[in-house]
Amino acid sequence: VFTHQLAIQTPRATTIIKVGQGLVPAVGNELLGTLGPDALSRAVLVTDATVGALYADTVSDSLRGGGITPLRFDIEPGEGSKSLDNASRLYRFLSDNRIARDGVIIALGGGVVSDLAGFVAGTWMRGVRWVVCPTTLESQIDAAIGGKTAVNIPGAKNLVGAFHHPALVLMDPGCLKTLPDRDFRAGLAESVKHAAVFSTEFFEWHERSAAAIAAREPAAVQELIEWNVRIKAGVIERDPYERTGERMLLNFGHTIGHAIEQAVNFELRHGECVAIGMLAAAHLSRSVGLGEPAIDRLRALLDRLGLPTGLRQRAPFNKIMSAIQRDKKGVAGTTRFVLLEDLARPVIRPDIPEDLIRQAHESVT
Ligand SMILES: NC(=O)c1ccc[n+]([C@@H]2O[C@H](COP(=O)([O-])OP(=O)(O)OC[C@H]3O[C@@H](n4cnc5c(N)ncnc54)[C@H](O)[C@@H]3O)[C@@H](O)[C@H]2O)c1
Ligand SMILES: [Zn+2]
Repeated sequence: VFTHQLAIQTPRATTIIKVGQGLVPAVGNELLGTLGPDALSRAVLVTDATVGALYADTVSDSLRGGGITPLRFDIEPGEGSKSLDNASRLYRFLSDNRIARDGVIIALGGGVVSDLAGFVAGTWMRGVRWVVCPTTLESQIDAAIGGKTAVNIPGAKNLVGAFHHPALVLMDPGCLKTLPDRDFRAGLAESVKHAAVFSTEFFEWHERSAAAIAAREPAAVQELIEWNVRIKAGVIERDPYERTGERMLLNFGHTIGHAIEQAVNFELRHGECVAIGMLAAAHLSRSVGLGEPAIDRLRALLDRLGLPTGLRQRAPFNKIMSAIQRDKKGVAGTTRFVLLEDLARPVIRPDIPEDLIRQAHESVT
């Protein structure tokens, strides 16, 4: 089976990323190959109950085949599990099992598992090595790349975290077979985001391949993941610690998208909100005078990929605006919008007048 491989070099770490069918059943050998044999005397597999029931035995068998007996730590599925409580439980587990600096943490699951496990890996003994097997499309093309880890505190997502790059990321598109359609489609929003912000060629590829992508044809899915990995890896290498502003471009569609998530009480998936948020941001780009940033093409593509392009009255403007204000007051200080002059020509704009945000909201209502 074809495997695509790439390395991300950051000042303090190298991450090997592999994309290919069959990587999950081969975890044991892959780990030994990358980390070396003595590294693996102590491995802790962190997963959630759903993913664990599907893949943990395969992973454990594979590790045992490589001579590693993994310990296993399960969390409940869902965003609520990305908590300091679970981090504490995991620290206790590591302590009870005498996991020291030479330990390895293996995250098997979506972004919830990898954010939590990565955060614990980054802080346990000031950092132990970790490996990710992302099992959702969202995590394969976004969460597992870039070394950001986090837990939530009440009322605030992702505010406690650390940059801690994994040593190895094994992306097996075969795992996506069990992922519900709605979650798969929601993940596609991040792919459209990468394309719209960074690559006209990739955007056009989506337009040509939309039917194959939506039908989850293996070749199209493999290519989609590889392309996203290359794009995001490039951004991370150029801005590993979010200092140059380039990483901020990854927020395209996310300012309004996050506000929508809150305004609909998280009843829409993150990717669904980002899809609507990207369209709103494209409208905003036009109303601040940046030109015609391919609004119709963006809408048509999202539609063909089965993503929502409108709110259908679900979230009134006052709720959206107060969510944006809350983010601004809370931590961000100012609200910076990522807008587009055109495909692959992003611009960051602070201080957009409320009136224009209202118009953008109307355009997606
Ligand atoms: N660190 C980053 O850079 C970054 C980037 C984007 C998102 N995130 C974070 O990622 C999280 C969202 O991640 P997610 O969308 O992967 O959600 P998730 O981890 O909650 O997974 C979604 C659901 O799918 C299930 N699931 C996972 N893989 C499956 C599979 N192969 N088959 C069947 N079911 C499966 C899970 O059990 C869960 O119920 C958020 O907390 C977000 O903040 C982090
Ligand atoms: Zn996102």
